[in-house]
Amino acid sequence: MESKNKMDAIISLCKRRGFVFQGSEIYGGLAGVYDFGPRGVELLNNIKQSWWKANVYNKENYFGLDSGMFKHSRTWEASGHVGGFSDPLAECRKCNTRIRVDKELGSIGITADEKMSEQKINDLFNQNRDKIKCSTCGEKNFSQVKSFNLLVKSNLGDFTSDGREPVYLPGEACQGIYLNYKNIVNSMSPKIPFGISQIGKAFRNEISPRNFLFRTREFEQADTQYFIKPNENKKAYEAIKKDRFNWYLSLGIQENKLRLKQHDNLVFYAKDAWDIEYEFPSGFDEVEGIHDRTDYDLTQHQKFSGVDLNYVDQETGQKYVPWILETSMGLGRVFLAVLCDAYHEDEMDGETRVVLKLKPELAPILCAVSPLLKNKPELVAKAREIYSSLKKEFGRVMWDDNSNIGKRYRRQDEIGTPFCITIDFETLEGDTKDTVTVRMRDDGLQKRISISELISFLKM
Ligand code: GAP
Repeated sequence: MESKNKMDAIISLCKRRGFVFQGSEIYGGLAGVYDFGPRGVELLNNIKQSWWKANVYNKENYFGLDSGMFKHSRTWEASGHVGGFSDPLAECRKCNTRIRVDKELGSIGITADEKMSEQKINDLFNQNRDKIKCSTCGEKNFSQVKSFNLLVKSNLGDFTSDGREPVYLPGEACQGIYLNYKNIVNSMSPKIPFGISQIGKAFRNEISPRNFLFRTREFEQADTQYFIKPNENKKAYEAIKKDRFNWYLSLGIQENKLRLKQHDNLVFYAKDAWDIEYEFPSGFDEVEGIHDRTDYDLTQHQKFSGVDLNYVDQETGQKYVPWILETSMGLGRVFLAVLCDAYHEDEMDGETRVVLKLKPELAPILCAVSPLLKNKPELVAKAREIYSSLKKEFGRVMWDDNSNIGKRYRRQDEIGTPFCITIDFETLEGDTKDTVTVRMRDDGLQKRISISELISFLKM
């Protein structure tokens, strides 16, 4: 399937089947903001749970956190975001459309990124102006390139409205971890090395949000900050890269669609940076950043807050500011990668069908329960009984008695439901009494399973 068509098909499925909606749609939409619908929120939560398990429960000496979104305004000065968190912007002189210059240069094969100096990117832009057209009016008449800060301001507690010390929305979720590092050391007495993991929202005033969930203005990040002794970064960094790569495989994503790629240009806080990239229909792009942040963050916060952020080694008595290895994953991007990987169009029973081959742990609905005929009270009563017991056990269970059985299967295939359970006349009598039909999503094969074994079958 052609790449643009595949992405369009996924976007359309997301809306049609209740995965993702454009934010504020009834008012014409809000650029770069999306809402997760009933199916989407389940898939998202299942991805989060898998991540939490891998980054808190299955690790020793890792601590979970949920910090508040608003942070003291000095946080973002200390972090470097007030001074250095910007993208290169130019504006069409005719229709005022704004473009992100590094991305426009990239689209004509010129390597540029947001970390270049304003001067350097202006030079590159000036050499290539004649090749870049405004997507709205078609003119090639843009302003000079300016750095545009991505932080989103709020007026929290600013009753004077003088805006001198704005409280920003988080530009990256991980700052909540740095601000709570001392609280966690004091309350949990962790032995170094230790990790702090958090899922939190981030907001960026992206100049050109694009590619559906890929580049949005509001998004969620799942971060782990791993605190280590100074200079003990090399081995741990390699182990973390491998561990994070393997987590994507555990989601069922095909290995040949994933790669690790080192950054050529580093952001202000990083000494080394690698991305985990997924091959989206448009090509490989970043889903997670793995950064060697050294002691940059804690040293900055120590300087700006005046609070001692040294760690005291309980065994040796040594005192130092720990170094940090960060993994930071965008949940919207991973959600999109999981959907792209699971999306298939194939032939079944002589028809083309759309199917999401999601791992059962990730599927929004684990199983659908149906009576073969909805006008036979004895079938409906038995099906309701089975539905209630499965719903109590798994939650992600759907009652489905709409239209004929073939249509039910197609609908469930489209939302990735791995198992469809049908209660038929054989469930009620004869040798097959108290058995049901379980139909498998990926190959369409059916099995008869006894009702008493259903829960253990679905747990496999
Ligand atoms: N704390 C480090 C940090 O924020 P980043 O590379 O800017 O690093 C980490 O972001 C991850 O957050 C990215 O790999 C990406 O998955 C996600 N992300 C960043 N900007 C995003 C945006 N505008 N929309 C959606 N996801 C984004």
